[in-house]
Amino acid sequence: MATKKIGIMTTGGDCSGLNTVIQRVIDGCISRKWNIIGIKDGTDGLYNTPASTVDLTHGAFQFANSHLAGSILSNGNAGNTNFESSARAGKLVAFNKRLKKSLSDLNLDALVLIGGNGSLSLAHMYREIYNGLSLVCIPKTIDMDVPKTERTIGFDTAVQQLVSYCDQLLLTARSHHRWFVVQTMGRKCGQLALHAGVAIAADAILIPEIKFDADNLVKHIKQSKRDYGIILVSEGITIRGHSGKPADMISRKLNAAGIANRTAFPEYIQRAGDTLATDRILAAGFAETALTAIENNETYVMTSFENGEFKTVSLNDFFAGGRPDKDPNIIGAMTSNAYVEPDNILLHIAADMGIYIGEKRK
Ligand code: F6P
Repeated sequence: MATKKIGIMTTGGDCSGLNTVIQRVIDGCISRKWNIIGIKDGTDGLYNTPASTVDLTHGAFQFANSHLAGSILSNGNAGNTNFESSARAGKLVAFNKRLKKSLSDLNLDALVLIGGNGSLSLAHMYREIYNGLSLVCIPKTIDMDVPKTERTIGFDTAVQQLVSYCDQLLLTARSHHRWFVVQTMGRKCGQLALHAGVAIAADAILIPEIKFDADNLVKHIKQSKRDYGIILVSEGITIRGHSGKPADMISRKLNAAGIANRTAFPEYIQRAGDTLATDRILAAGFAETALTAIENNETYVMTSFENGEFKTVSLNDFFAGGRPDKDPNIIGAMTSNAYVEPDNILLHIAADMGIYIGEKRK
């Protein structure tokens, strides 16, 4: 087998599991006698001249660290990457040219891009940057909002982080006869809140995909036999006429109804935590699938897990498989998003468990 030179980078928000994917890709390259370099800070590192890279071929990254959260390669300066500032300044053409030049200077055969729906949508939109090499993407995100895959790196660990957090909160809630309104991450997708909510048997789960009625929520809480519990609120929900953090809005409604409560914000802890075994195995499967795709000269593809199978799907299919929305960070760009669909089994399970999940699909 001819030797190859592979690049690997992490872009977008971090999550637990990135290091495991990186390690598994390195392992696979070493066993194939391929060279591999890491590109630091995602597209920020690629924008530098010369690109910021680290040689990973000879065990620069030790297995002992691969279950730790974050990315050994770093993800760039969230919210203010060179990509974003170039977009704001209307200089994306020049930016993209520089990425293309860096890739050609690096003389890569393939690039493994580990990113969320934003990064993958941008790779699809600006595909000419990757002409001449094999571009293989690996989906990661705690939001689980990537179309055409049922699983994404980091999601299971994020759910566990939230579950552990809520399990602890419930103890203090019980001591003080009060409710906690916990705001989860997830952007406009309710998967994270829904999974954690079912796992802890929350009293209510509010997600962006389902309309809720604040009065019915209050009624539900009052009818419960307890004076404490957890209401999980996804960061993407809105209430007409209210602004501010969703958890604060719900808390005010509860206060007005005389229900003692506090808010809690687990925030970036959801992106941390030692990588769970299921995420590690997913990482190993995605790494192997990505390397096989490179061997088969595939390009513009994403690894996917669907119906119990690892496979690749084209970035075209990924993009067409979701619903487009404006990219929150890049003016003029669209991302393709997956959401909680009405037939999601967890919605039915939650309803059967007596959890308030809102009224009807928006
Ligand atoms: O997409 C992952 C995510 O953690 C979202 O759930 C959250 O809204 C966002 O990233 C926060 O991003 P930032 O790191 O820019 O604050």
